[in-house]
Amino acid sequence: MSESIDKQRPEPDAAQAAPEADAQDEALRAANVVRALGVRKTYYMGEEAVHALNGVDFRVKRGEYISIMGPSGSGKSTLFNMIGGLDKPTEGRVYIDDVDIASLDTVELAWLRCHKIGYIFQSFNLITVATALDNVMLPMTFAGMQQADAQDKAVEILKKVGLGERLLHKPLEMSGGQQQRVACARALANDPTILLADEPTANLDRATGEQIIDLLREINKTEGVTIITATHDHKMLAASDRIAWVRDGKIDRIQSRDEIEIKEGAMHVS
Ligand SMILES: Nc1ncnc2c1ncn2[C@@H]1O[C@H](COP(=O)(O)OP(=O)(O)OP(=O)(O)O)[C@@H](O)[C@H]1O
Ligand SMILES: [Mg+2]
Repeated sequence: MSESIDKQRPEPDAAQAAPEADAQDEALRAANVVRALGVRKTYYMGEEAVHALNGVDFRVKRGEYISIMGPSGSGKSTLFNMIGGLDKPTEGRVYIDDVDIASLDTVELAWLRCHKIGYIFQSFNLITVATALDNVMLPMTFAGMQQADAQDKAVEILKKVGLGERLLHKPLEMSGGQQQRVACARALANDPTILLADEPTANLDRATGEQIIDLLREINKTEGVTIITATHDHKMLAASDRIAWVRDGKIDRIQSRDEIEIKEGAMHVS
């Protein structure tokens, strides 16, 4: 049985809510680190409108690992960009930690991106002329941390992701999997609430991809960081608490981990 987004509790009308409903509403808000309500995104290509998202309602619980899956062009990256504060919806609202991102000015949005969210991309997006250590220190320096403290913390995180022996290597002196580990370490630099990963395993071979998925799961469990991935990679199913299937700019269905059968090591979607 799959959980339909329609069955999720509607947003209460604050003006009419009874005290018990207020308490319930507050609990709901506290439990959800991301809420997307009626999100639409339309891109204009000259005269032509491309409806990338067609009314998405989506909630991510604090501390969960959720994967957004769907065919190419279905709207995964667009949704990912909305819930990561990288772009704003044409219609609808996105709340991150109960803050409506549309209400933030440029400086506040930059603060939110720097402190609350860590980003991991398919192509790693590391600075190629900088060492692993410098890449990981950079977000801390942006956040105003002293160099010595940033260095100590970057070393600690790089050790945690298994790169204690590669601190002074530059990206091109490392394997793809090691580069993605540096990207994971960089994403953790400012102790984010949410880690957003767009196709984090797409440029990696199967075994290396599995190691990165294991690392994300470990970060989720040990640090309590909420993980949101957009992915084509069915290996990600096994790691996720829930899977949101996107089709034609809408959430088709949301499945929990229990609703996915595991047969002889392979994942089967019911
Ligand atoms: N900047 C843009 N301008 C115009 N159209 C866009 C833009 N970005 C995305 N689109 C369109 O919006 C739709 C959704 O794109 P999106 O990148 O979200 O898909 P996706 O599910 O991430 O695909 P993939 O798996 O290939 O990465 C596609 O039809 C795409 O062509
Ligand atoms: Mg994409």
